[in-house]
Amino acid sequence: MVAVAILAAGRGTRMKSDLPKVLHSVGGKSMVERVLDGLAAIQPERIFVIVGFGQEKVRLALAHIPNLTFVHQAEQLGTGHAVQQVIPHLEGFEGDLLVLNGDVPLLRPETIYTLVQTHRDNGNAATLLTAQFADPTGYGRVFCTEQSIVTEIVEHRDCSPAQRQNPRINAGVYCFNWPKLMEVLPHLQSDNDQQEYYLTDVVKDLSPAMAVDVADCQEIFGINSRQQLAEAYAILQERIKAQWMAAGVTLIDPDSITIDTTVHIEPDVVIEPQTHLRGHTSIGTGSRIGPGSMIEDSQIGPNTTITFSVISDSTVAAGARVGPYAHLRGHAVVGENCRIGNFVELKKATLGQGTNVAHLSYLGDATLGEKVNVGAGTITANYDGYQKHPTVIGDRTKTGSNSVLVAPITVGSDVTIAAGSVVRKDVPDDCLVVSRAPQKIHEGWKPAHLRDDTNPPSESPTA
Ligand code: UD1
Ligand code: CA
Repeated sequence: MVAVAILAAGRGTRMKSDLPKVLHSVGGKSMVERVLDGLAAIQPERIFVIVGFGQEKVRLALAHIPNLTFVHQAEQLGTGHAVQQVIPHLEGFEGDLLVLNGDVPLLRPETIYTLVQTHRDNGNAATLLTAQFADPTGYGRVFCTEQSIVTEIVEHRDCSPAQRQNPRINAGVYCFNWPKLMEVLPHLQSDNDQQEYYLTDVVKDLSPAMAVDVADCQEIFGINSRQQLAEAYAILQERIKAQWMAAGVTLIDPDSITIDTTVHIEPDVVIEPQTHLRGHTSIGTGSRIGPGSMIEDSQIGPNTTITFSVISDSTVAAGARVGPYAHLRGHAVVGENCRIGNFVELKKATLGQGTNVAHLSYLGDATLGEKVNVGAGTITANYDGYQKHPTVIGDRTKTGSNSVLVAPITVGSDVTIAAGSVVRKDVPDDCLVVSRAPQKIHEGWKPAHLRDDTNPPSESPTA
């Protein structure tokens, strides 16, 4: 049996932020959510999240995750004090307590699994993750016997110059035998440089306490500053990109591409340079995305091309071509084999298959049938300054260049709208609509300074 305590009460002073540190996002997910993801390979009996600074925000951010117990640490008196807060919740508990720092977001589930297994196999009182860092500055130093039995952990700021030479650092990831931890946890002292109750102080009184070196040092990277947040992001990006390339995705110039962990990409997708895939986005096989595109929380079907475009909260079906310079947003739904071209914006617009919007259009709150051809510069005037109104266009209808459809409006199927029309009333099927001022020609007209008064221009123009 294992219970988990995630320490997430600290402010994270070095972040210089109003947002609690553990809510800062790394690749589309908050640090603390990533820590929770690390529990995937174990089945914890209970999960405690210790909250304090900005606790409402932390509770809200984690509200969608089931079976969490939030424990309030009213004053942040240190990591040991934080773990003391779960004591009332674990009365009579005989299992192990896994403690994770909320600011160590890159831990892999396998690593946590191995830690817990090693702890059990050896019957340890405490087992903790360690690593040897070339630059261990800032981390607690772990002092061990040759058999990896921990004698002491000393925080960087409390170390003597000689102790600082020790490259073995404490990752902030521990598995404790709870009954044994209970013998020492309530008696922690705060006689250190920060006057805090350090969790690390318990190990010298627990036997045996064992250090386990992590295989990949990057996993235990702890985040205390924006600089480190950026470094963690870079590590995560490398991992994600390696994973997708191994799964059959081509990344052209990977350094210029960013992909959130929440994205799904099918094999034989090509991602071109300067492309960013965010949130709950999926890309179907055979699609070519980029260069220069940003896709967020959108579903892109197979065999599409998306070039220099921005797509959010939208769906693009198989074979569609988008861009260059298109913007799809607010639940745009693009049907199969549609073409969305240069400088086109779609907002809450649904397009049937084979419909083309090739140049310079805005379609908002619109529903278009199949094989519609939207002429260059066609605009849906969906907003009267107060409310948004819908536009409906039937199958195979062609809108002329620079036509304006004043919503609410329904245009039937097989309609042709003349160029430059301002269409304000509903249009039935199978017709031509011309709604513009008739052309007038003033024969012989000249500008005033060129006029010869003996030859005045004709007064009545020919239409
Ligand atoms: C801690 C360890 C250090 C280790 C490092 C690894 C201690 C004393 N030191 O140092 O040995 O090398 O992590 O990253 O544990 N927190 C609370 N309540 C508190 C204080 C902190 O919940 O009262 C939370 C913070 O929100 C954070 C985590 O505990 O998520 C770690 O706290 P932090 O102050 O960052 O500890 P470090 O100085 O990094
Ligand atoms: Ca830290």
